Amino acid sequence: MTKKILITGGAGFIGSHVIRTMVNNYPDYHIYNLDKLTYAGNLKNLTDIENKSNYSFIKGDIVDDAFIMKLFDDYKFDSVIHLAAESHVDRSISNPNAFIHTNIVGTVNLLNAFRNIWKDNFAEKLFYHISTDEVYGSLGEEGMFTEETAYDPRSPYSASKASSDHLVRAYYHTFNLPVVISNCSNNYGAYQFPEKLIPLAINNIKNRKPIPVYGKGENVRDWLWVNDHAAAIDLIFHKGRVGETYNIGGNNEWRNIDLIRLLCEVMDEKLGREKGESSELITFVKDRAGHDLRYAIDSSKIQNELGWKPSVDFKEGLRNTVDWYMDNQQWMEDVTSGTYQNYYKEQYDNR
Ligand code: NAD
Ligand code: DAU
Repeated sequence: MTKKILITGGAGFIGSHVIRTMVNNYPDYHIYNLDKLTYAGNLKNLTDIENKSNYSFIKGDIVDDAFIMKLFDDYKFDSVIHLAAESHVDRSISNPNAFIHTNIVGTVNLLNAFRNIWKDNFAEKLFYHISTDEVYGSLGEEGMFTEETAYDPRSPYSASKASSDHLVRAYYHTFNLPVVISNCSNNYGAYQFPEKLIPLAINNIKNRKPIPVYGKGENVRDWLWVNDHAAAIDLIFHKGRVGETYNIGGNNEWRNIDLIRLLCEVMDEKLGREKGESSELITFVKDRAGHDLRYAIDSSKIQNELGWKPSVDFKEGLRNTVDWYMDNQQWMEDVTSGTYQNYYKEQYDNR
């Protein structure tokens, strides 16, 4: 029998890579993509696989509990890979409520519906929850997040993700729901919405607009190529141990300002500009409220247990990413017209 896999948030950045990986790697699964198509959801991220016979798209909102219950009743999904979320920290500072609804209530609705269709008969079933390293809080200069690090979320976004992680674990302990969780560091690559640092900077550099760097640019993030995250998700989905958590990271820490300088160098080369021309666009702006200083993931558990490791050197991955955005300028134009302009004004005009 064909396995029915529900992937939520599949029209977003990471979700679209996960959908592509699963649809291409597993012709004997049927992959259902459930997505509300918020500002961050874009079916153009999936044009290469949209006509495959083992793929279907379902438009819907995970916050709508009656809809979710009926959907699960109708389709009887064997497994869920749950990525749908409000994902941008700055938006969680200006509008926390959407994060509470989607990230917490939406997750509980999926857990309830999954529990309801399988009752206590969970053989061969899995609820895989995709989470973030931000649940662990902020590091000083030393140390790394392990799976044992105590949760200490500090933004409405990370607090909502932490809450959803706790609920997923609670359903495992209380109801024996077969769950697995992974917490990943910052992703970069094709199809990322340009509210996030790297695509926003690429777009601004291309259009000779200021590159807004928060504070002094000293915050550190651990960057991972999105395709490596999708490969890790595939591996955990198939080989991860039920009830476990896996940290996924790039072992690749960059201060924001150093990353932006590197990006400017790459863009100068690609656009045929003088060396140093793009870096003149760097503009230090008011810091993000409660800005976490540093994230760094210790991914030795997934490396030792499942044999996963990042496949791409960061400089090469960044060059390929810039190439993708330069080759797909229509994609960028489509997502930056309309409401994006209002968002950009609100976030950056008085910063
Ligand atoms: P994204 O914002 O690009 O995509 C989110 C998707 O979820 C969109 O397609 C959106 O339409 C959909 N969605 C939002 N609300 C919904 C709702 N109520 N019902 C149904 N669909 C809804 O996000 P992303 O960056 O691809 O992140 C995906 C997941 O991975 C999130 O859970 C996020 O917390 C996690 N994560 C992201 C990163 C990162 O660097 N981007 C790192 C670690 C973990
Ligand atoms: O760590 C994983 C998380 O990474 C994910 O859970 C989130 O969904 C994802 O959005 C990302 O969160 P960050 O806040 O780290 O990513 P963002 O791209 O928004 O910012 C990266 C760093 O760059 C951060 O220190 C803030 C800074 N920044 C960001 C923007 C948008 C700037 O300096 N200027 C900007 O304009």
